[in-house]
Amino acid sequence: MLLNEFLLELKILFKKKNYLYVKKSFLKKNLSNKIAIITGANSGIGFQTAKQLYKQGATVVFACRDLRKAKIAIKNITKNKDERIDLIHLDLESLDSVKQFTDIFRKKYDYLDILINNAGIVGVKKSYTKNGFELQFGVNYIGHFFLTNLLISKLKQSSDARIINLTSIMHDVWHNPPHSSMIGQIFFDDINFEYREFNTYEAYSQSKLALFLFTKHLAKLYQNTNIKTFVVNPGWVRTNSARYQIPFGLYKIFLWFMSATSPWIGSQPILYCILEDKTKIISGDYYSAINIKYKHSDGQLGGWPMTSPSNAANDPVIAEKLWKLSERLVEQSIADNQGA
Ligand SMILES: NC(=O)c1ccc[n+]([C@@H]2O[C@H](COP(=O)([O-])OP(=O)(O)OC[C@H]3O[C@@H](n4cnc5c(N)ncnc54)[C@H](OP(=O)(O)O)[C@@H]3O)[C@@H](O)[C@H]2O)c1
Repeated sequence: MLLNEFLLELKILFKKKNYLYVKKSFLKKNLSNKIAIITGANSGIGFQTAKQLYKQGATVVFACRDLRKAKIAIKNITKNKDERIDLIHLDLESLDSVKQFTDIFRKKYDYLDILINNAGIVGVKKSYTKNGFELQFGVNYIGHFFLTNLLISKLKQSSDARIINLTSIMHDVWHNPPHSSMIGQIFFDDINFEYREFNTYEAYSQSKLALFLFTKHLAKLYQNTNIKTFVVNPGWVRTNSARYQIPFGLYKIFLWFMSATSPWIGSQPILYCILEDKTKIISGDYYSAINIKYKHSDGQLGGWPMTSPSNAANDPVIAEKLWKLSERLVEQSIADNQGA
């Protein structure tokens, strides 16, 4: 990292005013007839968001892979059993699990207002999901792609449906020490890193760019409908996400030391995309809690909304190509599974 980049990041990290917060009045809006699904709601940014939506009256469905952890998290929100908090098992590594989750949700609920595709992993070793996708691509992106498509009919029943996808600044650029920064891209010819050398950050970057492009194409497909979608960067946040890179819980100390922000700050752009009036927010837009990376966009430290400097992220042709590939990959996986 160049010295000036490093100084800029330090400056932003210590100037708390550069974080963007939703208006206090938004946090008093009544969400009592809203139904929300949050993937990975048991931890970090997802948990913080679940807690706030529940506080404002929404029914929150925890979509989690580890029911034990999820029950503990729910107890931290309310000690009493409450119909407004539901828990349905979801393992994004398995398309079967995604299907089972939506079958259960569809039977229980008539409509869906808010879908937060939050669950994610970063920095894992090379491995594959149950359907043969590189783990980060499969969990972060393909699982959510399938989940969202299976829930569209329920989202259509809402008068104001919002889908929020979690990206990262790494959708644009990822660091490859000791080399310089690398531009994020979708490897259409080798999406699962079967032939190219595997780099976990490159794979994470691909999965987060995929979520960005997914948002853009989804917004296009559902323009002029009641369904809006947004892509959100939470910033660098103190959560469990670093557990695959730094073992034994030491990542918690590291993140404090490095001044990563709180899950509350990380949840702000998500809450904004849910709580802002639908006439004031444009589907497909990108929201970030902070603008660490985009130093070339002068005067725009963080943005509501902002523009990604990534050419790929803003390319509708790439977005459509990825959508078509994702449809094919999901269909093929399901067919293979049925044949097995
Ligand atoms: N923290 C950051 O600095 C940062 C920066 C940019 C983007 N993000 C994004 O923010 C989102 C939330 O992450 P976080 O920071 O809050 O991390 P976190 O505390 O580790 O939460 C991640 C959640 O995803 C769940 N998850 C992982 N694999 C899953 C699977 N196969 N099926 C279902 N759920 C699964 C985890 O479940 P378990 O608890 O069972 O593992 C956990 O609930 C992620 O998409 C992440 O990429 C985070």
